[in-house]
Amino acid sequence: MKINIAGIQLNNPVITASGTFGFGREYGEYFDLNRLGGICVKGLTLTPRQGNKPPRIAETPAGILNSVGLQNPGVRYFVEHEVPFLRQFTAKIIANISGNTVEEYCTMAEILSDSDIDLIEMNISCPNVKEGGVAFGTNAGTVNNITQQVKKYCKKPLIVKLSPNVTDIKEIAKAAEDGGADAISLINTLLGMAIDINTRKPILANNVGGLSGPAVKPIAVRMVWQVASVVKVPIIGMGGIMTGEDAVEFMLAGASAVAVGIANFVDPLACIKVLEGLESYLHKNNIYDVKEIIGKVEPN
Ligand SMILES: Cc1cc2nc3c(=O)[nH]c(=O)nc-3n(C[C@H](O)[C@H](O)[C@H](O)COP(=O)(O)O)c2cc1C
Repeated sequence: MKINIAGIQLNNPVITASGTFGFGREYGEYFDLNRLGGICVKGLTLTPRQGNKPPRIAETPAGILNSVGLQNPGVRYFVEHEVPFLRQFTAKIIANISGNTVEEYCTMAEILSDSDIDLIEMNISCPNVKEGGVAFGTNAGTVNNITQQVKKYCKKPLIVKLSPNVTDIKEIAKAAEDGGADAISLINTLLGMAIDINTRKPILANNVGGLSGPAVKPIAVRMVWQVASVVKVPIIGMGGIMTGEDAVEFMLAGASAVAVGIANFVDPLACIKVLEGLESYLHKNNIYDVKEIIGKVEPN
């Protein structure tokens, strides 16, 4: 089940999606974290953040809306207090970074490059404060520039995590690859809204939030498939993965690895069940190496 992502060997293709697994401590009480291919930790910022006001989560028919607002203890605290805990396990450590400016991303990449983590995932769905708050990930030129800048400070393999809130995901993925991304992950959440019809107020304090879960899976599979047709770097697919069959779908579309997000909220053993479901699909189809299914969809 081993998979290589940008020179880093994962025990298997199952990773946790950032923001849905904390720093692994709570889930470690439910199962052996050594069983994971990788642990992608909650989004880190340069300085600690309190996050947004509640309500920050709203349930919708086939997914959830969230506007947590990157609550986290800051990158330095993470390096000092969480990396030693995570390092006890064989799962590769993926640090997810978010910034207000290109400079913040660069500083975080520099700090993390000197720490004992394995890969850095750059979340470019954040608003670019200096450029009027438009998300970094929505413009190909901006994506190319931030990737190039961060690469100068990044000594670990860099995964660029794409936002699906764009018109042409292929163009954005190519811009990240041309900028030097070692891998690409997608999708982050889709911008959504839910309104309480009795109070006539939005359910989230922030009015709008990010939608994820089964509702977004077909969009995510489509985007992974499109991106796989234009980039050579490995892809980590995510968005609504609840079962092993979902993971197989993403891998057939072109993902080398998969990340499990809100399924962890529904069932703390979700990652293990996804892994076991993937293994049983391979077994049933007499496939000995998981790599054999990557990108093997046969379009009509
Ligand atoms: C509560 C919550 C917090 C999240 N925080 C982050 C984050 O800090 N950084 C990031 O890149 N993605 C974040 N995400 C997005 C997930 O990592 C993932 O891309 C998305 O939820 C799609 O996967 P899913 O449908 O399996 O949940 C968050 C998602 C949720 C639900």
